[in-house]
Amino acid sequence: MHTASDSRGRHLRWPTRGISFGGDYNPEQWPEAVWQRDVELMREACVDFVTVGVFSWARLQPTPETWDFGWLDRVLDLLHDGGVRVDLATATASPPPWLTAAHPEVRPVDERGYRYEIGSRQTWSPSSPIYRDHSLTLVEKMAVRYGGHPALALWHVSNELGCHNSRCYSPDSARAFRRWLQRRYGDLTELNRAWGTTFWSQHYSAWDEVVPPAASTTFGNPTHLLDWRRFCSDALLDQYLAEREVLRRITPDVPVTTNFMVGMGSPQSLAGDMNYAQWAPEQDLVSTDHYLVGPATGDGAAHHRLSFSADLTRGIAGSQPWLLMEHSTSAVNWQPVNRAKTPGEMLRNSLAHVARGADGVAFFQFRASQAGAEKFHSALVPHAGTDSARWREVVQLGAVLRRLEPVAGSRVEAPVGILFDWESQWACEQDGHPSRLMQPMTIAEQMHRAFAGVTCDVVPPDADLGRYSVLVVPAMYLCSDEEADRISAAARAGAQVLVTAFSGIADRDDHVRLGGYPGAFGDLLGVRTEEFFPLGADETVALDDGTTARVWTEYLTVAEDVDVLARHTEGHLQGVPAVTRRPVGDGAAWYLATVPDMRGLERLAETICATAGLDLHAGQHSDVEIVRRQGENGSWLFVLNHTNEKVTVDVSGTDLVTERVVDGPLTLEPGNCAVIREDSAGTGAPTRKADA
Ligand code: GAL
Repeated sequence: MHTASDSRGRHLRWPTRGISFGGDYNPEQWPEAVWQRDVELMREACVDFVTVGVFSWARLQPTPETWDFGWLDRVLDLLHDGGVRVDLATATASPPPWLTAAHPEVRPVDERGYRYEIGSRQTWSPSSPIYRDHSLTLVEKMAVRYGGHPALALWHVSNELGCHNSRCYSPDSARAFRRWLQRRYGDLTELNRAWGTTFWSQHYSAWDEVVPPAASTTFGNPTHLLDWRRFCSDALLDQYLAEREVLRRITPDVPVTTNFMVGMGSPQSLAGDMNYAQWAPEQDLVSTDHYLVGPATGDGAAHHRLSFSADLTRGIAGSQPWLLMEHSTSAVNWQPVNRAKTPGEMLRNSLAHVARGADGVAFFQFRASQAGAEKFHSALVPHAGTDSARWREVVQLGAVLRRLEPVAGSRVEAPVGILFDWESQWACEQDGHPSRLMQPMTIAEQMHRAFAGVTCDVVPPDADLGRYSVLVVPAMYLCSDEEADRISAAARAGAQVLVTAFSGIADRDDHVRLGGYPGAFGDLLGVRTEEFFPLGADETVALDDGTTARVWTEYLTVAEDVDVLARHTEGHLQGVPAVTRRPVGDGAAWYLATVPDMRGLERLAETICATAGLDLHAGQHSDVEIVRRQGENGSWLFVLNHTNEKVTVDVSGTDLVTERVVDGPLTLEPGNCAVIREDSAGTGAPTRKADA
């Protein structure tokens, strides 16, 4: 088994040999007679890793006084006998009805004061002391009973923390929020300063006046709202840490994770409600779930969003291997139109994650449910049974992943870093900003797509920025002085740093930086803006380099040493710079004062890459994904054809999907993929030839 570093910097033994393969296994939904058959099927499909017990609290503790572990003992024994490693849930994700009926205050309260009813899942408030007590009792029982079980490879705390209960406005939450604020600010004077409460007569004179920002007359205080988002993320992280503490006390050597939803967003936020950049260092291995699929969604950009999410997962994992804890073999039941995946799509989705650093591919769930809210969600074993195309594809995927065993532990090298900052995203989702259309996550995704011809890391601002030839700062609205200094230092040290509009505008208290925009980056870029002129949803502007731009314009003036690369050609901004570059130390600082269409962004990316000595074109067409993983044992080139046409790529080695030797042009049918074990350690970028 390969190793990685865990959250304490220790060697982490990966849960399985090679690339882990499996999914959520929920045997409690089935009679015991089915379990033995399940394990046989797992062996047939090379499944070696399953997550057990995620939603089994009510089964494990059917009443407050009774516990029933016998069934789980038998499940773990069976799995162990079948050679399947277990990611054992702490089972705290959904409290049983007896708990939330006896203690209604455990259930979360929404922003209009409505307390959620029993009947769904994850119906608990992160700030409820009663939930905390009961959940930790369960964790302790699980750890004591199963800590020494030979099948146990990993602890799985709760499930997608924050998926349904990320914001709770209950009295418990109000008290916890005040405690959090007291730790952050010390006293009310400092809170009043940070929140700018002189505006709209919001000065607080006693802590009890400070409440969660529930529904009110109109816009809330921006820093109050931002602190609320920070608190909500921390409140759930605190539950994770409390469970981890119990697990570490009893089973110090078993790694701990909880499954993130990186890039999945939430009803309130494009980036989701948990600041995973802060959560990741607390995981022994980072795991995430991904359900943005296409073309079932009709979303032609789905594979770009998948690769963005995967690169962001690797970014927050500090380039360590990570685990895809859940995705779908086919249909995803919560989509309004719930279509099956097309032939080959599951393999392509799975390999896209592996290409970008996943050392595990798992799904929700092993056997499709007959009853319950997710009965129309796909599974490894579908309703149709094993005489089905889906099962045959699952068996094929297992065989391919088995052949990829040596890939495990290898790394993805990315010459381009794209910064992503959860807090800037949350701040830009508030009312009262220059434009609702200016969203850092959207800009970051567009940049990722524009630079798709080279591999990108998507990293938080506190990452090591020195390793990138190109560093992109997409609408990083909030920025501390220290962060701005580190970004400037990267330019001075030789990086091409591209800053996009609405970056560096406010400090981390969300106070605007005075003296002209873009505040924190004005000196680095040598540009200054006094006022913004955002565009309406249907408006465009033409630049003199042929680019059409949207969303944003500004009246930009530039210092003498700044090159203007594109100007506005029309309207009141005619002649005003829109794209600039300034030499800085050994590198340069580029400013993009608008949002070009995709073609314009790609051209800018080409120019910047050429300056940095990177060949954007040699690597990839944006719909032919080509990513290399490299390790001590070799290098592997992942080639995924997302187009509807045949493509040809020059490669040399053995394709581990088809087990064919390739030397020269490899033609991939529409939707097909290859993983080339390269004959000589690859460094050069392969060329995509004219379409066959
Ligand atoms: C995930 C969740 C699973 C299952 C899956 C499919 O978000 O963790 O329990 O619900 O989605 O919808």
